[in-house]
Amino acid sequence: MNYQWYPGHMTKAKRMMQENIGLIDLVIELVDARIPSSSRNPDIDGLCAGKSRLVLLNKSDLADEKVNRLWMEYFKKQGIYAVEINAKSGQGLKAIYGTVREACREKIERDRKRGIKNRPIRAIVAGIPNVGKSTFINSFAGKACAKTGNKPGVTKGKQWIRLNKELEFLDTPGILWPKFESKEVGRNLALIGSMNDEILQMTELASDLIAYLLQNYRAQLASRYRMENVDDMTTPLMVLTHICEDRKCYRKGQEADYEKASALIMDDFRSGRIGRITLERPPADGSAE
Ligand code: G4P
Repeated sequence: MNYQWYPGHMTKAKRMMQENIGLIDLVIELVDARIPSSSRNPDIDGLCAGKSRLVLLNKSDLADEKVNRLWMEYFKKQGIYAVEINAKSGQGLKAIYGTVREACREKIERDRKRGIKNRPIRAIVAGIPNVGKSTFINSFAGKACAKTGNKPGVTKGKQWIRLNKELEFLDTPGILWPKFESKEVGRNLALIGSMNDEILQMTELASDLIAYLLQNYRAQLASRYRMENVDDMTTPLMVLTHICEDRKCYRKGQEADYEKASALIMDDFRSGRIGRITLERPPADGSAE
């Protein structure tokens, strides 16, 4: 399968980030906790040079708790500030304020030395499509926030969301283009649904998912699809055939409908019904990927 993102989208997204970065003190980068590496953008380091950075491990409710902890340790070891959150329920959001202050310590100190008081930290929320940027802005900023209008020194038309006297967000999130640098990364992005499913071959994708689950989350797979004989299941095709039987996915004439079963397992996985599953672990030696 060939995964890609249109060059036009990429250029537009890059330009938007480049235009706004000058206004920003802090880049809040959302990643998907199920694929924290594949959902990062390789060019962000270059784009955000000199800015404070914070990574939010979002959708942590869908990811394996143990592996979430490993990723948090990994980011810490890399010297990257990170917070584990669920933007949908609001879990973990409170911890962000303290971490923002830590991440922006130098700027706060610089302002203090220059006698600048009450200048809020300006942040942009960035991430690849579907990672939860809008959900995060809405639930973090909530109803309490006020939109501030144009200010001197701010590009005309830019809207800032004031969270409190310390922190403001640019109201438009920065879209980062996914990195399709390897087949595995493309596959991970496709698995969590951050690509247009219409261009994907669902049975192939579901087979990849099943192979991974058989190896890493066998008990959850067995429990979801009532597979008493899970130890006899050695191939994705055997599992798909079982799902066809269990969920009555048949075409006319009792022929197994693998496409339907594939769509079903993909949907179950993406909405967390198979359990909390993470598709990639941090490198064992803690080195940057
Ligand atoms: P984006 O701006 O980065 O493109 O992402 P957006 O906020 O639109 O979120 C994409 C989907 O991810 C939404 O689901 C949203 O509800 C879901 N989401 C965001 N954060 C979390 C989280 O921490 N946990 C979980 N489980 N889901 C999260 P949707 O299916 O598009 O909409 P809806 O069904 O929730 O209305």
